[in-house]
Amino acid sequence: MGAEMPGSNEIGVGMIGYAFMGKAHSLGYRDVTAIAANGVPRPRLVALYGRNGDRLEEARRRLGWERGVTDWKQLIADPAVQLIDNSGPNALHVEPTIAAVKAGKHVFCEKPLGPTAATAFDMWQAAAQAGVRHMCAFNYRFFPALQLARQIIQSGEIGDVYHYRSQFLVSSSLGDGRRKSWRDDKDAAGAGALGDLAAHHLDLSRFLLASDPRTVQAMTRVKVPTAADGAAIETDDQFAALLDFDNGALGVVEASRVAGGHLVTSRIEVDGSKGSIAFSLRTLNELKVAGRNHAFRTIPVLREDDPFRANWFPPGHPLGWVDTFSHEAVHILGAIAGLHDVEPIGASFRDGYYCSEIIDAAVRAAQTGQKIDISYRSL
Ligand SMILES: NC(=O)c1ccc[n+]([C@@H]2O[C@H](COP(=O)([O-])OP(=O)(O)OC[C@H]3O[C@@H](n4cnc5c(N)ncnc54)[C@H](O)[C@@H]3O)[C@@H](O)[C@H]2O)c1
Repeated sequence: MGAEMPGSNEIGVGMIGYAFMGKAHSLGYRDVTAIAANGVPRPRLVALYGRNGDRLEEARRRLGWERGVTDWKQLIADPAVQLIDNSGPNALHVEPTIAAVKAGKHVFCEKPLGPTAATAFDMWQAAAQAGVRHMCAFNYRFFPALQLARQIIQSGEIGDVYHYRSQFLVSSSLGDGRRKSWRDDKDAAGAGALGDLAAHHLDLSRFLLASDPRTVQAMTRVKVPTAADGAAIETDDQFAALLDFDNGALGVVEASRVAGGHLVTSRIEVDGSKGSIAFSLRTLNELKVAGRNHAFRTIPVLREDDPFRANWFPPGHPLGWVDTFSHEAVHILGAIAGLHDVEPIGASFRDGYYCSEIIDAAVRAAQTGQKIDISYRSL
């Protein structure tokens, strides 16, 4: 404690978790000074939380944080911290986030917002009541190609939207030395491939279509039920669903951790009455668009008129997956400064809660074999 207070154009950040997303978010904050427009506050990486003192200290140094703390409550009690970045496992999103917003801190929380829709709703409600800025880290919204896709769909260029189709395929559950992690534990994670991978595409369906799914039919499976040491894997590694959107579109969403030949494949397609669009993570600086002539053309993003280009590099220089975390950091910091709202480009906790309702309904659909109505609570 006893840290200096952040300057007037700085936001002090306290972060939970220092592994995969902890590193990605730290890199995102690092870039803000270089790429943000005037008026966006600079992040000051005040404190990092982790349970293991030695590993925390190693991560703190490597990722550039001022201090390490072994109790997340210290982040919230720290007057130099104005923004809590929750990059911990799903179950750890709930209590620290609610405590943070009640203490008047803004929160940027990883997806899925909570391990259940009920907990996600509590988080949204607490943040709204506290009047703080809140954002759920659905980073796919910050791929320039997917923002372009949204503009194209909303301009009517592909006509009335009839189909949303996505696949998120990895093979992380396969392999002889596989160890059980929090992702395989129902209480810590909520759902498996569904909550971890499909969550991105379920949020994107709402982002791209500006429409909400109203029913879901789904199947989940656990194809690899034990880790190498025999520990039980509790969460799904296969997921497939059919969704019925309130604009009449039909959605097909698939996610897998047992797709043998896929390292990370993430594809999204939208078809309408006048054309189609297609995005793939492999070619993330491009969007494929076809009209009724059925000829897909490739649109390179980061052109002269692209909103992201101004503060990066001259037109055409490719960005990467990690840059979505820089875009997210700029977005939440700009929202805190009152330059724009988190919605509609970023996912607010309202969006995070909506996605969690879809996930919960898909879990029920898979358990019962029934088509499940999805209803969303309002505040
Ligand atoms: N936006 C994305 O693309 C993306 C990608 C991966 C993960 N995520 C999300 O980010 C969050 C973190 O995932 P990750 O991949 O970084 O996980 P990870 O396992 O790599 O890191 C989790 C961190 O939390 C710590 N931790 C684990 N259990 C804990 C506990 N019980 N108490 C306190 N700390 C604990 C770990 O030590 C580690 O620092 C999850 O909500 C996940 O769904 C998002």
